[in-house]
Amino acid sequence: MLAQEQREQARKLFAFLDTQTTAVADTVYRNEVTDYTCRKQFACERELFFRRGPLFVGLSCLLPRAGDYMTHDYAGVPMLLVRHEDGNLRAFLNVCRHRGARVADGSGQGVKRFLCPYHAWSYATDGRLIARPDERSFAEIDRANCSLRELPVAEKYGMIYVSPAPDTGIDVDAMLSGAQHDMAAYSLDAYHHYETRVLRQKINWKIVVDTFLETYHLQFLHRKTVDPILHSNTTTFDAFGRNLRMIAARRTIGELRALPEAEWNLIPYTAIIYVLFPNTVFIMQAETDSARRHWDRNMALLLATVESEDFPLSEGIQRGFYSGAQDAILFGRNEPSLQHFHKSVKAALAEGNGAAS
Ligand code: FES
Ligand SMILES: [Fe+2]
Repeated sequence: MLAQEQREQARKLFAFLDTQTTAVADTVYRNEVTDYTCRKQFACERELFFRRGPLFVGLSCLLPRAGDYMTHDYAGVPMLLVRHEDGNLRAFLNVCRHRGARVADGSGQGVKRFLCPYHAWSYATDGRLIARPDERSFAEIDRANCSLRELPVAEKYGMIYVSPAPDTGIDVDAMLSGAQHDMAAYSLDAYHHYETRVLRQKINWKIVVDTFLETYHLQFLHRKTVDPILHSNTTTFDAFGRNLRMIAARRTIGELRALPEAEWNLIPYTAIIYVLFPNTVFIMQAETDSARRHWDRNMALLLATVESEDFPLSEGIQRGFYSGAQDAILFGRNEPSLQHFHKSVKAALAEGNGAAS
């Protein structure tokens, strides 16, 4: 986030804290329970958001050097990303053109080629088929027609977007709809990858996003974990097309106020939360001098909080949705981010268009 914008946001937060209020929506929003239970809607979401995309799959620092690769299966489409020797990322369907085996698993570094484990067809990092054992048995099928199926990939602001469907374009700036100014200011391309953790929960994907979209619950559900660190029920809210940003104040934010405005750097005193539509929750937090210890503690706190406080509760919510207790749940005026996220999902489904606009 640019310095001037940080000062503006800080002033907003101070005003909210002084008056014990928060960014508010015009009305309470009733969100139908079928949003989380309807199989037909889920099939549409899967098709539109996860099988067509584009999707944000991670930061550029996941694949810093030529020959670095990763597989990505969370969208339900097997994808393979690799940094080619020309420095550009390439993305493919992770499917061998012989009989369809996965040509790579997990992630790794310094590969020159992918060797299919089944019959050893080998592919260059630009997807070209290099060799196939017993070539003469396949000679009538031109090798040039046996390249890995390429997927659109875009890298900008240190972020990687992939489209799981071939022949679709990716316009990162259109996806971010204004949030790119914040992303550019973070210089994410200078970051290092520290750790990846995978959690699996029995909840609709939107409940995972919902978990992060209000601070109303901190003082209750997270009384001992997060509430001592962040102010409850006070955030900013700004929409960027279908994306959103909310800023939660750390309890230390008073120290910032004591400094001259020209020196205000909001990041150490807040948690800045973005939804990068449709499914990415991106949280910006400050680095400190003792970076590694800090990140270990941060990661441990985040996981302990979501694993033992948020997600067990969320699974209860998901089961409760099937009970027929009510047709709709409520997002209060103090929960504008939740309202915006769900309105955006609905708008995208209605338009049949997964990209932000
Ligand atoms: S399936 Fe890959 S070489 Fe046969
Ligand atoms: Fe929470």
